[in-house]
Amino acid sequence: MAIRVLTIFGTRPEAIKLAPVIKELAAHEGLIASRVCVTGQHRQILDQVLDLFSIKPDIDLDTMRPGQDLTGIMVSALLGLKDVLRAERPDIVLVQGDTATCFAAALSAYYEQIPVGHVEAGLRTGDLYSPFPEEGNRVMTARLARWHFAPTEEARRNLLAEGIKDDAIRVTGNTVIDALIHVRGTLPALAPERLSAALGKAAYERLLAAKEIVLLTAHRRENFGPGLATIFGAVRDLAKARPASLIAFPVHPNPNVQEPAASILGGLGNVLLLPPLDYQIFVWLMNRSALIMTDSGGIQEEAPSLGKPVLVLREVSERLEAIEQGSAALVGAKSAKITQEAARILDDAQNKLNDLIEKNPFGDGLASKRIVNALIAALRN
Ligand code: UD1
Ligand code: UDP
Repeated sequence: MAIRVLTIFGTRPEAIKLAPVIKELAAHEGLIASRVCVTGQHRQILDQVLDLFSIKPDIDLDTMRPGQDLTGIMVSALLGLKDVLRAERPDIVLVQGDTATCFAAALSAYYEQIPVGHVEAGLRTGDLYSPFPEEGNRVMTARLARWHFAPTEEARRNLLAEGIKDDAIRVTGNTVIDALIHVRGTLPALAPERLSAALGKAAYERLLAAKEIVLLTAHRRENFGPGLATIFGAVRDLAKARPASLIAFPVHPNPNVQEPAASILGGLGNVLLLPPLDYQIFVWLMNRSALIMTDSGGIQEEAPSLGKPVLVLREVSERLEAIEQGSAALVGAKSAKITQEAARILDDAQNKLNDLIEKNPFGDGLASKRIVNALIAALRN
């Protein structure tokens, strides 16, 4: 009988990172019966990814509410998932990463005594409040998971240090690199009309004409309020100091980001506030950028594959591999550090990063195959 795998996710990064896994599960039709459930913790930016990868969820709990809080997300996900798991009775539930949906799905599966496979297991900063609540979600998901798919050796060591047994861990690489390699391969065929429609004609033309693009994203909860105000203030200083640069900022739909972005950066001529971009368009934009400033996890992992330097707008990182490699620098939410480091990298004659980055420390594009092969082997036993 086929192995019944239910993959559960809810947000943009989970969708991007699970899309190649879902594709790989589907390639084993007959051996694996793959089903997909989305909590809909995100809506528009989740649907962008589902459309791009042609994923049609079997179940959609449609839980997103404007301005939702952590308790609200957890309660609606847990209630919805209980019924889903009782109806589906999968042999295994697959979850990804560190979001509220990830932890809710692992907890629901635990309550129904269904084993959990955790993709992107073992990332740790050691600080439960940074990133918040992701660090807590990772730790709690690891306690409940049966199989841990660690992206790197560092992640494996973190799991071992918490008492997870070696034979429950597989180092696979990060599936985001599988997704990125696939999408990067579609860029040559990306029609200008599609770019123009997605970005808006005026923004597209400005991006094409720009001498130097700095790409910005910011959305971490622990930065809400003073942190984002400082980051956006530093970006404003950078924009004024480098009038020939164009700072492109696809703004996350969270109102806690939208409002300060509009009020602090809204009136600046060389700051382009964009809607959240579908992943293919976003990869196109990353590829054109001279520097990426971000507090996103996934973008830190993707940047080395595109040869792009990253300033990490966080106090601590769970992705030390990029910092050790020299492709990323931690600047926190500190105004002077952000502007100084940005100027240093941009002035470094198109930086020597292309020489520096020979391989991506986070993955090689084969993570999804390793995960699915490991699952098949484990479940056959
Ligand atoms: C969530 C995750 C975070 C992840 C991030 C990726 C949690 C607790 N947080 O944070 O780990 O890094 O996603 O983007 O799981 N909204 C929309 N449309 C959308 C998505 C969001 O309007 O498609 C708005 C809604 O008002 C929503 C709010 O953003 O209530 C916040 O969404 P939420 O999922 O709670 O938090 P994120 O900040 O997106
Ligand atoms: N991303 C995207 N469109 C955007 C911004 C980001 O497709 O406008 C992609 C990005 O390339 C990465 C992922 O979304 O793969 C990161 O998601 P996000 O920053 O929301 O979450 P995090 O990685 O911080 O959890």
